[in-house]
Amino acid sequence: MSRIPLPYNPKVMDLFRNPKNLGKMEDATVVAVAGNPACGDMITFYLKINEQTQVIEKAQFESYGCAANIATSSIVTEMIKGLTLEKAWIDITWKKVTDEIGGLPSVKFHCGVLAVGALKRAIRLYFDQKSIAYPSWLSKEHTFEEKQALEEEELAKTLSKRMKPEAEKQQ
Ligand code: FES
Repeated sequence: MSRIPLPYNPKVMDLFRNPKNLGKMEDATVVAVAGNPACGDMITFYLKINEQTQVIEKAQFESYGCAANIATSSIVTEMIKGLTLEKAWIDITWKKVTDEIGGLPSVKFHCGVLAVGALKRAIRLYFDQKSIAYPSWLSKEHTFEEKQALEEEELAKTLSKRMKPEAEKQQ
């Protein structure tokens, strides 16, 4: 069976081949994971935050997702460097990231959403882990991207549960 290559634009392909800020960060202030290791679409976001100013000094990621996921994660880490948590929370949306990258094939929109979901989860986690009250700009309700990440995780869990008995039957 032959596979038809997806129409990725050159910017996506370049960031996929030469991702920026890829790899584990040893001195991260906060680490957030989104996606599901069972299906491979998983992303880890590392943020180094200046705790006085709440500025993101460094951002790195690891991704086991597809080209679109790697490229969008890479560009998100570039876009948020030097931003305050507030600005990153408000300004970085999957639409903005998708525009910044020059567009994605529609079947790949969720990959960019997952990258932004991981970022938003990391910001929320920062306040949760430090037991700092949420500032007014941080909604208690999950953002669209966080909700999508949760939905994907639930779906992946359900699918892996269904696949397990089938795999066991075949042994
Ligand atoms: S991250 Fe799953 S298809 Fe892109």
